[in-house]
Amino acid sequence: MSANTEQDKNEKQKGRVIPGVSKALVTRSLQKFQRLTGVSLVLSAILGAFLLSTDRSLWILAVSHAYGLIAICTVDIFLAAFNFALIRKALLPSLLWAVLTFVLQIGDILTAPEYKMTMLYFASYLFHLWAFDGILSAQVAVAILAYSARSYAKMLGPKKRKKLTYFDMGIKSSRRDFLQIMGAILGLIGLTGILAALDVIYTPTSPSNLGNSQSGSGSSSSSLPPGAIANAKDLQVGSPITFYYPDSTSPNILFKKSDGSLVALSLLCTHVCCETSFSTSSNALICPCHGSIFDANTGAVLRGPAVLPLPSVELNVDASGNIFPIKVKGQSPCL
Ligand code: FES
Repeated sequence: MSANTEQDKNEKQKGRVIPGVSKALVTRSLQKFQRLTGVSLVLSAILGAFLLSTDRSLWILAVSHAYGLIAICTVDIFLAAFNFALIRKALLPSLLWAVLTFVLQIGDILTAPEYKMTMLYFASYLFHLWAFDGILSAQVAVAILAYSARSYAKMLGPKKRKKLTYFDMGIKSSRRDFLQIMGAILGLIGLTGILAALDVIYTPTSPSNLGNSQSGSGSSSSSLPPGAIANAKDLQVGSPITFYYPDSTSPNILFKKSDGSLVALSLLCTHVCCETSFSTSSNALICPCHGSIFDANTGAVLRGPAVLPLPSVELNVDASGNIFPIKVKGQSPCL
């Protein structure tokens, strides 16, 4: 084996530029891939900010997810800045971060039962959000680009150390700075965890007095027989009451109409299961998440994005006027 071939082999093993390939070309490719990594990270952050500012269900239904998305956007921006500054050491954190955020976003689907939805329905809702799809695509792009850039970085071998200061590029390139970056990322992840835990701690627990009313005519539920939600004599037109049926996480509303008949409807919006609220002025149930409106007499959809009407609750009234929920009628994605 000639001396030259032996040297080439050693260079390859050290991860240096492949013989015949210009070092300048490899450097340009590395820089191009690293900038594209930064662009993809910025895109991911912009789409995350768009979701945070437009999807109210994040803030009403899943506050911990909103905090998580804020952390993802923040880290995206930090990593993008490091990639634009052509700090090679940002490539591995970018690659790992893209994989982690992709898994976390897909993992959101597993939390569907927490928000009273099946995983299948929640997955279909998420994948119909173009911004959500955009974030996933951007993170896949980050992973591919950062991996490719790392390949070019390896071809160039170890970077010659030049003592840089904050005045040279805004940040020092050293092991200590790398550790600072990782520390900041871990700190943000920890902060997200703390905020999520606080959200769980301070979220009011659902009432456990199943079947009994929670508001409305002012009648005392203690005088009602077990399972009754109200007495027809105590109900007044225009003053509905809420009750929980068939479980303590399923709110419903009971109306007495002017002809004396009773109507009970689920309060859970059939779009993504946010709780609707009754508007006396429009005699409708309005969803705060994406603005669906339902007719308070029938549960019919007056305005989307919900498509299905609100399920109703079949009632039984005994000789004393006590009202008992019997069963839920109608389709809903809410568990
Ligand atoms: S949850 Fe989207 S409109 Fe109600």
